[in-house]
Amino acid sequence: MILFQSVTKRYDEHTVLNSIELQIDKGEFMTLIGPSGAGKSTLIHALIGATSIDRGSITVNGSDITKFTREQLQDYRRGIGMVFQDFKLLPKKTVYENVAFAMEVCGTEEAATRKRTREVLEMVGLQNQSGQFPNQLSGGEKQRAAIARALVHNPKLFIADEPTGNLDPESSIEILNLLQKIHINGATVILATHNKHLVDRLMKRVVVMKAGMIVGDREESGYGMPKEVEEVERVELE
Ligand SMILES: Nc1ncnc2c1ncn2[C@@H]1O[C@H](COP(=O)(O)OP(=O)(O)O)[C@@H](O)[C@H]1O
Ligand SMILES: [Mg+2]
Repeated sequence: MILFQSVTKRYDEHTVLNSIELQIDKGEFMTLIGPSGAGKSTLIHALIGATSIDRGSITVNGSDITKFTREQLQDYRRGIGMVFQDFKLLPKKTVYENVAFAMEVCGTEEAATRKRTREVLEMVGLQNQSGQFPNQLSGGEKQRAAIARALVHNPKLFIADEPTGNLDPESSIEILNLLQKIHINGATVILATHNKHLVDRLMKRVVVMKAGMIVGDREESGYGMPKEVEEVERVELE
């Protein structure tokens, strides 16, 4: 279980996270939506301990991760799978090597690395492209490779920050389907996006952020978007 309590983060005078209160239960699929600059990435960076906060606490399974030592943080992050808009694949390594490398650096033995790498590549449907280099892949395939790499340690928490930001609608849906598969396999999933159309396809929990604050939070309603999304969009246009 993840609990944000009074989480505040400032850059000089600018409050980027303003007293955030948020609970994410184990096994949830939560979508964080809001316009660019709302603070979605900052919230995620705080959750993975990549950015400090000025006030509040972030408790994960009972421990305040903002108080973690460097070693504790490293351990904690190993249990998190993450993908980003820009894939972050190593250009001089093949798909297979990109994935296997994530295990090798953790000292996993060769046979186990080989087995798990094949497994995750199959899961994302890239078993036939494992010998290709990133520049030989489509955007959607690159993101699938990044997802495979993020899955090697079988993370209990999977975070995708604008994973479809560089993708066409068709590939975006593929990525969304994969995230749902990861969720069904038991992970807690957090998806941050400014793409409202993507969320229209999901009937899961939607948390709406705007200017560093949470302005909406809807459980699986089945009635489309929370009204706050429309409000945020209207304000944007004005
Ligand atoms: N390192 C930084 N220094 C100063 N301001 C930053 C930094 N990182 C993010 N910000 C500001 O914080 C706000 C929220 O950014 P971000 O979390 O990236 O939003 P989102 O992911 O919702 O687009 C933005 O106004 C951005 O300019
Ligand atoms: Mg962002």
